[in-house]
Amino acid sequence: MMKQATASQIRVVTLKINDRDVTAREDETILQVARENGIRIPSLCYVEGLSVWGACRLCMVEFAGDHRLVAACSTRAAEGMEVLTHTDRLRRYRRMIVELLFAERNHVCAVCVSNGRCELQNLATECGVDHVRVPYRTAVYHVDASHDWFRVDHNRCVLCTRCVRVCDEIEGAHTWDLMGRGMNCQVITDLHKPWGESKSCTGCGKCVQLCPTGALVRHGTSAGEMERDADFLPYLSRMRHAE
Ligand code: FES
Repeated sequence: MMKQATASQIRVVTLKINDRDVTAREDETILQVARENGIRIPSLCYVEGLSVWGACRLCMVEFAGDHRLVAACSTRAAEGMEVLTHTDRLRRYRRMIVELLFAERNHVCAVCVSNGRCELQNLATECGVDHVRVPYRTAVYHVDASHDWFRVDHNRCVLCTRCVRVCDEIEGAHTWDLMGRGMNCQVITDLHKPWGESKSCTGCGKCVQLCPTGALVRHGTSAGEMERDADFLPYLSRMRHAE
């Protein structure tokens, strides 16, 4: 997690994003500064108000005259930076990342409860993904519908860990966690018990509200019906930091 500076230590820095001069507090990330200035950088795992995970790499940006790529969500703005957010190379990489996410699990949009309201689907449109150039893995993943109100479909999980972080950092329950590595990685509840048997789950549904795809959904929703409302997060995270 990124270390917070105290108010008296924070300086203002000036940098360029796509040749435009912008100012920022030095404790802000490039992604935050870009958003404040209306510059869109694609992102998936980042959610304002939760800790930075930096896993999806969709927010990669580059610096003028430097071949290295950095994640905008986990890189602080600094004096004199010249950030580029939409070079040809970044567009190619982002498109490939989205394609790999589609190929890894079974995102069949037409029959998904989040069809039309899915962040992965929106990213595919934004990145120009009209087909996937790598073979689909077509591995079968489990659907756990044991909870009274919600279900988790691992076929549609992108491992962004928003559910893990909001459950731990905002709800304080830490019901969700990660198990396994690489393509065997999956989110689990209570040391890999069925969600319905979880002793720690409060049933608050914050994880469901923050899920970007059709992985965590309410029972009783069918294709295209799952609506989410993440408005609670800025308020709760502000209150938490005010304690
Ligand atoms: Fe930056 Fe996912 S949003 S790595």
